[in-house]
Amino acid sequence: MEALIRRWRQLGVWLPVTFVAAVAALVVLGLGRFLSDAGVVVLITVITALGAGAFSSWIFRVLGQAQREMVQRARHLAAINEASLALSSELNLASVLQKVVDLSRAVTDARYGALAMVNEEGKIAEFLTSGLSREERERIGRPPEGKGLLGAVIQKGETLRIDRIADDPRSSGFPPHHPLMTSFIGLPIVYEGRIVGDLYLTDKSGGQPFTEQDEETLRTFAAHGAIAIENARLYHQVQDLAVLEERDRIGMDLHDGVIQSLYAAGLTLENCLEDLAQDPAEVQPQLQKAIQNLNQTIADIRSYIFNLRPRVLADTDLAGAVGGLLQELKVNALLDVQLIEEPGACQGLSEDQSTALFHVAQESLNNVRKHARASSVTAKLQRKDGIFRMTITDDGVGFKPKRSAGGQGLRNMRERVEALGGRFSVQSVNGRGTQLVVELALAMERKR
Ligand SMILES: Nc1ncnc2c1ncn2[C@@H]1O[C@H](COP(=O)(O)OP(=O)(O)OP(=O)(O)O)[C@@H](O)[C@H]1O
Ligand SMILES: [Mg+2]
Repeated sequence: MEALIRRWRQLGVWLPVTFVAAVAALVVLGLGRFLSDAGVVVLITVITALGAGAFSSWIFRVLGQAQREMVQRARHLAAINEASLALSSELNLASVLQKVVDLSRAVTDARYGALAMVNEEGKIAEFLTSGLSREERERIGRPPEGKGLLGAVIQKGETLRIDRIADDPRSSGFPPHHPLMTSFIGLPIVYEGRIVGDLYLTDKSGGQPFTEQDEETLRTFAAHGAIAIENARLYHQVQDLAVLEERDRIGMDLHDGVIQSLYAAGLTLENCLEDLAQDPAEVQPQLQKAIQNLNQTIADIRSYIFNLRPRVLADTDLAGAVGGLLQELKVNALLDVQLIEEPGACQGLSEDQSTALFHVAQESLNNVRKHARASSVTAKLQRKDGIFRMTITDDGVGFKPKRSAGGQGLRNMRERVEALGGRFSVQSVNGRGTQLVVELALAMERKR
């Protein structure tokens, strides 16, 4: 546009100057010999008037054309803006793709549009259309394979603008029941140098071919489309990740909480069986305990589903809850148990921290019951210099802890603690018991 204005400015100066110089030359060259002075003046006036008229009609024509172009450009920009706004509100990938093709038709005034999503082998994996009814699409049958003009855009990765499809040697014709199409424009949708799809528009309204301006508009819109497509893809990925994380969490809670509680209830029932013959009076309280545990487990399952805390932590603090676990161990596994809580040790633990510590204690005490063949177990809760420490020690058979080895229990414990920025360690020597230590920074101390 700037170059055009510069050219007009030059023409506006040079045309009148040249014109006046030409007329002066005519006079000098002898017009004066054939006409009187008044005749010369009249002639020069007439020629000047005609020249000025022609010049201004030309300049107005040029200005009119420039104005039409500017109005059209503004319309295209407004259409791109509107289309991009419509795109930005969408996060569902399928809807984004359909909107890209629908809106690209709108910004270029095209009757038909299509969007090809190409796989890594360069084949069309998905083909969306716009401007065709569902019946029309069904009648056409299978989507295109990416030969002919569509394939040319895919393979070259460049824009293709054609006035008459039928005249182009690359065109492979239309299948039966396909509407006849005339003008064509196709271009790749590029995101950070990578082609994410190919966009095709046919039949500009009014039977006109697509213009350079349409090409420019479409390219700008396609850039917005690329961002919207990538955005929707990322959103999907994040959602998938969230689902996986949630699955992991539920898996951990079931392993450390529910399964262990059911295991404990099972042990109580086993004891009942044994006592039934020898000591029937003992059975009733044990059965009551097992029922109570099962009810507690049902309540816990509900809590885990909604990512709430184990029920026991609603009624007591960490020390109380760990004390309950030890008591269960004492009754069911006949172990000597000891809880050492330094005064105020559990103060300042956040809900997430107590929940994680409770699950760690639960799994570690279950490991003692399942694997240690210990006679005693101690849980120690301490707090020093803003660090809370839980130590669980047994005097059982011990094992060789390897960071990568082990079942789900050890892995879950480590993950729970590390997710809260804490430290988890297991020390064990064959035949000499096991000691498990968890350290967490207390929130109130961290703020200081
Ligand atoms: N206190 C312990 N005393 C002796 N061996 C232990 C102790 N804790 C863990 N182990 C050993 O470490 C292994 C791994 O423990 P982990 O809790 O990860 O898995 P698991 O208890 O076998 O199975 P899961 O917990 O998945 O039901 C156990 O199989 C056991 O051999
Ligand atoms: Mg275990």
